[in-house]
Amino acid sequence: MFELLQPSPPDKILSLIDLFRGDPRPHKIDLGVGVYRDSAGRTPVMRAVREAERRLYETEDTKAYLGPGGDPAYCGSIAKLVLGDDAPVDRLASAQTPGGAGALRILAALIARARPQASVWLPDPTWVNHHAIFSDAGLATRVYPYFDPVGSCVQLEAMLAGLHDAAPGDVVLLHGCCHNPTGASLAEDDWERVCELVLARGLVPFVDLAYQGFGDGLDEDAHAVRLFARRLPEMLVAVSSCKNFSIYRERTGCAFVLADTAARAGIARGQLLTCARIAYSMPPDHGGSLVRIILQDPALSAQWREELGTMRDRIVALRSELARVFAEHSNSNRYDFLRRHRGMFSLIGTTAAQVERLRREHAIYMVDDGRVNIAGLQEGQVESFVSAVVAVSRV
Ligand SMILES: Cc1ncc(COP(=O)(O)O)c(C=O)c1O
Repeated sequence: MFELLQPSPPDKILSLIDLFRGDPRPHKIDLGVGVYRDSAGRTPVMRAVREAERRLYETEDTKAYLGPGGDPAYCGSIAKLVLGDDAPVDRLASAQTPGGAGALRILAALIARARPQASVWLPDPTWVNHHAIFSDAGLATRVYPYFDPVGSCVQLEAMLAGLHDAAPGDVVLLHGCCHNPTGASLAEDDWERVCELVLARGLVPFVDLAYQGFGDGLDEDAHAVRLFARRLPEMLVAVSSCKNFSIYRERTGCAFVLADTAARAGIARGQLLTCARIAYSMPPDHGGSLVRIILQDPALSAQWREELGTMRDRIVALRSELARVFAEHSNSNRYDFLRRHRGMFSLIGTTAAQVERLRREHAIYMVDDGRVNIAGLQEGQVESFVSAVVAVSRV
């Protein structure tokens, strides 16, 4: 049966993990994998999560099935965290999912059921898995201009012009904050213009909110999704709790559908649960329970917010320090964008050949497209990283 099967193209990020592990050089630096690391290079379990685990261990009295929609209390807490206190809950359908990727997957399946002829418009560039997830669901994908590599910023006018070609009913995927891989985000006024265009053209926004709290703050990072919820009749949202609760391996996320009426939201929910049932039957419980315990307890919630704030502050401080050291070493303000970008990632403008040299000559591991995970740097490694990048970038 497998004689015609072709090898899968290697996943560039995952194959970096093996290369990094096999490198004996003690000064090696891993900026490839997209997980938060602290200044000691660890991805620790948050104290709030530890405490929630302790409480869960003491109170959990069953391991019975959860159901395809997961835990409604988890979904309700995430709806509040993401959409705020005045979320239009009557028009909102939700399902707990295995990570943000699970949410993307079942929402893609829902689009394929609801409007199979719709194209899904993706930013150029975007998280590579977006292309695979929507294509695999049988949907046509198109790209719209997003990142200007010269100015290292969003090219808003080109983006809006590109989206003008979308047909009414098409879906537009937008990173709610902390764009992966570029780090370049839209300003609040820019979001207004995107919202107007989406409304005028009859498009359906699909917000991927994977890094809420990693950019400017929990509420600030939810600006776009809340704006859309206030103004638009329909929206899809994929949320990851893996990153902001640092529970990557617990596979925790939530899918939301905002419909124009409560009745349609109910129908969408039923179909969404059918998609979940087909894909994985039911989501795992552990991560969702931890998040629910934290978000329902004001003291624990405050502790979690503080820990998340420490993570965000470290990323922002590293960005600022990197920009400063780059300015010194490169004698230019070319890398000032690092200060303006948000989230863990930025594209630093290196070519695949330069990335290869960084790996070979300096034991610095990053993705071929020049994406660096800023949080992968320890404070003491900033100088050596910058001088290596400047060295390989010299013509
Ligand atoms: C933009 C984006 N969306 C979704 C995900 C999926 O996250 P999760 O680990 O929750 O599945 C990621 C993970 O890297 C991501 O970068």
